[in-house]
Amino acid sequence: MTEQTLFKVTVDGITIEVPAGTTILQAARQIGGEVAPPAMCYYSKLKGSGGKCRTCLVEVAKGSEKDPRPMPKLVASCRTTVMDGMEVKNITSEKVLDARAGVVEFLLLNHPLDCPICDQAGECHLQDLSFDHGKSKTRFEFQKRTFKKHDLGKNIQLHMTRCILCYRCVFTADQLTNKRVHGILDRGDHAEIATHIEKSLDNEFIGNVIDVCPVGALTDKTFRFKNRVWFLKPMDAHRDCPTCSGRVTLWNRGDEVYRVTARKDEWGEIEDTPDGEPGWICNTCRFDKKNASDWVIEGPREISRASVISQGHYSGKVGTTKPTETFLAVNGGRAPHLLMDIHDESEVNQQNIHLGQIQGPSHGDTFNKIENAS
Ligand code: SF4
Ligand code: FES
Repeated sequence: MTEQTLFKVTVDGITIEVPAGTTILQAARQIGGEVAPPAMCYYSKLKGSGGKCRTCLVEVAKGSEKDPRPMPKLVASCRTTVMDGMEVKNITSEKVLDARAGVVEFLLLNHPLDCPICDQAGECHLQDLSFDHGKSKTRFEFQKRTFKKHDLGKNIQLHMTRCILCYRCVFTADQLTNKRVHGILDRGDHAEIATHIEKSLDNEFIGNVIDVCPVGALTDKTFRFKNRVWFLKPMDAHRDCPTCSGRVTLWNRGDEVYRVTARKDEWGEIEDTPDGEPGWICNTCRFDKKNASDWVIEGPREISRASVISQGHYSGKVGTTKPTETFLAVNGGRAPHLLMDIHDESEVNQQNIHLGQIQGPSHGDTFNKIENAS
């Protein structure tokens, strides 16, 4: 066995050793947490991905031990390999944070702010990115782009206005199916995902484009508008599938299966199966097996990726952890004024009183009076 050359690389002050040829992004992911730059187009399971979105930009403060000069410009960490002795700044670099805020602003120029009705809300990478690096206002004064609607068939819904042209779905179709029927047509401002002559995406593995899409541009028609992801309980499950690994996450409410997805890791990418292969799933498992009886349930899924779903009282274990805090603890030790009856304070709910005759419902002063008296 030949010995692997290891390079020392420091990211945000943390040093690790990685094999030569590792990208800065992969090295940072090995350290983990906030040190890892966000990635909207790179997807480790898809060959050739990365280099499109610039969200993963980092500053190389020292090129290597042999040539310690800093790199003159910020570099895309998903496409730049480490050198021995390299020093990289991600969240510790003002320049990076400023550039990332600019990239988010650009990504949002044409992206509709329709999160309240978007099925990807709660697990959207762009939503998380805007939360971390976005501005509260836009400087864009023009009309956002609109597109002619394309029907991609019975299972996959395309919302082109949400697409950030990351190419992940194109690589997925190229690498998982024997004939890609969709792609990015036209150039510049006109570039769009389409099938050119209306065709449906119906290869048995094409459903995986839904899982790789970082935004809500490609969503599952069988789940559309049915529920919000944060109300659902993700459960690991498997079935003996002749086509794919059969290892999935079921998104349940009660006993009802609302959605089936592949299992995802902390970077939001498809998790590997125990034999080290990416756990892509087939359309039959994803779209047709919506009965709990179709599956062997393994147990609750831990959502390890930081997202809206794993925030707050869920503590990273969605649907499995009951909140342990008491009202007193979250209310700064003050007991709740739950014994106050609102009907004593206002006549608004009394049927025999004409609404037009009410002097006015309770307001701040009423409650302050009660609080001061107690
Ligand atoms: S549809 Fe989604 S996966 Fe495909 S290019 Fe657009 S954003 Fe990327
Ligand atoms: S993740 Fe590196 S350029 Fe998009």
